[in-house]
Amino acid sequence: MTGKKIAVLATGGTLAGKAASAHDNVGYTAAQVGVDELLASIPALQGFSLVTEQVAQVDSKDMTFDIWRKLAVRCAHWLAQDDIRGVVITHGTDTLEETAFFLHCVLAPVKPVVLTCAMRPATALVPDGPQNIVDAMSVALAEGARGVVAVCAGTIHGAVDVAKQHTYRLDAFTSGDAGAVGYVEERQLRLLRDWPAADAGATAVMQKVISAGRWPRVEIVMNHAGAGGAMVEALVAQGVDGLVVAGTGNGTVSADLMAALQAAAAKGVRVVRATRCAEGQVIAHAGDRLPASAVAPVKARVELMLSLLA
Ligand code: SIN
Repeated sequence: MTGKKIAVLATGGTLAGKAASAHDNVGYTAAQVGVDELLASIPALQGFSLVTEQVAQVDSKDMTFDIWRKLAVRCAHWLAQDDIRGVVITHGTDTLEETAFFLHCVLAPVKPVVLTCAMRPATALVPDGPQNIVDAMSVALAEGARGVVAVCAGTIHGAVDVAKQHTYRLDAFTSGDAGAVGYVEERQLRLLRDWPAADAGATAVMQKVISAGRWPRVEIVMNHAGAGGAMVEALVAQGVDGLVVAGTGNGTVSADLMAALQAAAAKGVRVVRATRCAEGQVIAHAGDRLPASAVAPVKARVELMLSLLA
């Protein structure tokens, strides 16, 4: 029988940030307030049954694979407890979509794993973190909720689709073409589509993540006007394991960059094409010289790293 307790795993971010002035929404230091202090400052959480863990305390631009591994292990631990209804993860907005996708690839949760965040620090005149946290709790407690999702500004996004699209607005995330999973309105959920399906291979991937001695090195290079092969050649000389090329349009790559990527592939470097377009996905066709990923470059990088772990 699943209880109504929620495990809150904190990793830092602006949500836990502090600025010198309540009017400063950009000149703050992220990841300053501990999870218990943060939750205690939200009166709306009184009466919630919570268990908390400070898994990390970082600005998410500094997110590491070791933190991801620890986070995945702690998620798995709490999800396996009968009395835990779901997991809420507090996170910075900047790499939230990467963490969400990573967790989607390694967990196959039949319970909800809800990432949430804030665009304004905890010290702001009107911080957005408290409402986002309460909304995330509503999602974690919702009947039938499952899978890895992100909640920001009242919108629920699936881990595969979510992307930060704005540098400043409180509603900073989009689900692109796929559209949001739903909305949280006054603690009620209005669903637009089904909860994200679990990744069938996730359990096997998790075992590889746990036992990995070394994380594969995968870098992202971009196609653009005048793009050449020098960056790729330098990375290959450094022993890179994989490359994701953020191609133009439908994953297209300049002749010089393509030549360098094909030379890298011939030396055993795994090369994957994605698109730098904010929406849509690369549509493969018969003449393709490099395989394509269906997800954004930062997520294709996670996908390739996990594949290389095998
Ligand atoms: C971060 O990603 O940790 C800082 C920025 C933010 O949370 O909005």
